[in-house]
Amino acid sequence: MSSLTVLKYPDPKLRRKSKPIAKVSSSIVSLAEDMFETMVAENGIGLAAPQIGELIRLIVMDVPKIDPIDPEKIVHDKLALINPQIVHGEGKIQYEEGCLSCPELIVLVDRNEKIRVKYLDLEGRPCEIGAEQLKAVCIQHEIDHLDGILLVDKLNRIEQGLYKQKRLRVAGEEKELATIL
Ligand code: NI
Repeated sequence: MSSLTVLKYPDPKLRRKSKPIAKVSSSIVSLAEDMFETMVAENGIGLAAPQIGELIRLIVMDVPKIDPIDPEKIVHDKLALINPQIVHGEGKIQYEEGCLSCPELIVLVDRNEKIRVKYLDLEGRPCEIGAEQLKAVCIQHEIDHLDGILLVDKLNRIEQGLYKQKRLRVAGEEKELATIL
C-alpha cells in the first residue's frame, strides 16, 4: 500500500467527468486500498478517485458510526463504492462540508438527508444501501467529484473568485519555495 498525492483546486483534472469502471480488476482493488490509506493519512472521511488523478468512478469512505451493540463506542464503517448511483433521495440537510482538494474552505451545503445508492463492491457484486445524515452527505459530496463538481462551486461568484485568487497565490508561493529548495 502507498499513500498518494491529493490534487488541489484549481487542478484541471478535478474538473473532468470520470468514466465508469467496466471491470473490477485487481488493480482497482489495490487502488482502493491506496485511496483508503491516503484518506486516513489526510484525516478525511471520503475520497474520490479523480482527487488522486484517476478519472474513474470509484470512491472510498469511512464515516464513523455508533456501535450498534455498545452505543458508547464509535466504530469504523469502511466502504468502497464503484460506479455509485443515487437511486432515491429525500429530505433536506445542511452540513458544513470541507474537502481535501479545497484546503481552508468550509461551506454550508444543501443535500438530501436520506439517500439510496446502487454500486458495485470491490468483488464486483451489485449492492444497494441506504444512508442518512453525514454518511448520505459524504456520498453526495464524493459523487460530485466524479462529475467534476467541487465544494468551491457551492460558493457565490464573488466568493469563488476570491478563493481562486487565494489558492493561486498559495500555489505560486509553493512553486517558488520548490525552486529555492
Ligand atoms: Ni471533496
